[in-house]
Amino acid sequence: MIDGKKVLFSGMQATGNLTLGNYLGALKNWVALSDEYECFYSVVDMHSITVRQDPATLRKRARSLLTLYIAAGLDPKKNCIYYQSHVSAHAELAWVLNCYTYMGELNRMTQFKDKAAKHADNINAGLFTYPVLMAADILLYQADVVPVGIDQMQHLELTRNLAERFNNLYGEVFTIPEAYIGKVGAKIMSLQDPSKKMSKSDENPNGSIYLMDDPDTIMRKCRRAVTDSEGCIRYTDRQPGLKNLIDIYSACTGKTPEETVREFDGKGYGDLKPAVGEAVISVLKPLQEEYARLSKDKAYLDSIIKENGEKAGYYAGKTLRKVHRKIGFPDRIR
Ligand code: TYM
Repeated sequence: MIDGKKVLFSGMQATGNLTLGNYLGALKNWVALSDEYECFYSVVDMHSITVRQDPATLRKRARSLLTLYIAAGLDPKKNCIYYQSHVSAHAELAWVLNCYTYMGELNRMTQFKDKAAKHADNINAGLFTYPVLMAADILLYQADVVPVGIDQMQHLELTRNLAERFNNLYGEVFTIPEAYIGKVGAKIMSLQDPSKKMSKSDENPNGSIYLMDDPDTIMRKCRRAVTDSEGCIRYTDRQPGLKNLIDIYSACTGKTPEETVREFDGKGYGDLKPAVGEAVISVLKPLQEEYARLSKDKAYLDSIIKENGEKAGYYAGKTLRKVHRKIGFPDRIR
């Protein structure tokens, strides 16, 4: 609790171009929850280097992601928006938690297996212990709730297990966090292969809608989305491409999938696809305009980065000191 409010933590990697999946699965919910909680939204640049990055590109992407958080509607005066690498407590708590995490637990992480297969020439220790850093992110702020897409659930479970293990040994140190998964949009699939999630690292750019895509590109990608030959608008796992389009439309318009199905009753895919395109454009256009405006305001962004980095450091430091005391590290002499 901070000032009587429950705490929310979430983050995104500053890698690749953000997709509509990142927006509908995470960012959109962050904005919706931001009044109710004391929020920490991190640009998790330390996670990004588990895969080799070009330094100039990483720096640029991190700033662009931070700008995008604000452009999406998160007020940086109320929400703590900051770079993970500016708060050294993340790395320090991750080290401690590493010593309470079993190799077997990390071996089971599907994201590790996927990324290790994709980057077989660089299976580094950071890639393996990535979920421990993620646990440190969340536990440092004593977060009650963590809004994420479904793909992060396994990491969240590990975080809860680590927190419980630690609390069992040392008393109530960490708050046990709950995942918050949105009702629609928690797993947006590729437009070209609806068996795969929409991903920043997809080689086929037509499978993903990027947050900075222009309207023509968005419309073209929606019109070309893979569906099926049944032709009838229903919301079922047997028609995964169609189901995904209904999810996207519903998440963008605030409707339920059932309402969307009713709206398109008697119509065909030729009606639905452009409507999805329009719905996406109407969500992304204001975001892109605000992003362009904010990007020019260097002094404003710099002040946010400084103030919020310090605020995050203050709360993270409190938890880290508590952890150090519990495990028996000597007190600092002041
Ligand atoms: P990342 O950067 O891959 O994704 C950021 C957020 O977007 C969600 N997401 C999706 N949601 C729905 N459909 C999709 N196709 C889709 N693709 C991505 C993700 O679930 C995530 O919520 N490990 C995290 C970053 C992280 C983090 C944290 C998150 C580091 N520390 C602490 C929460 C709390 C990741 O790689 O997300």
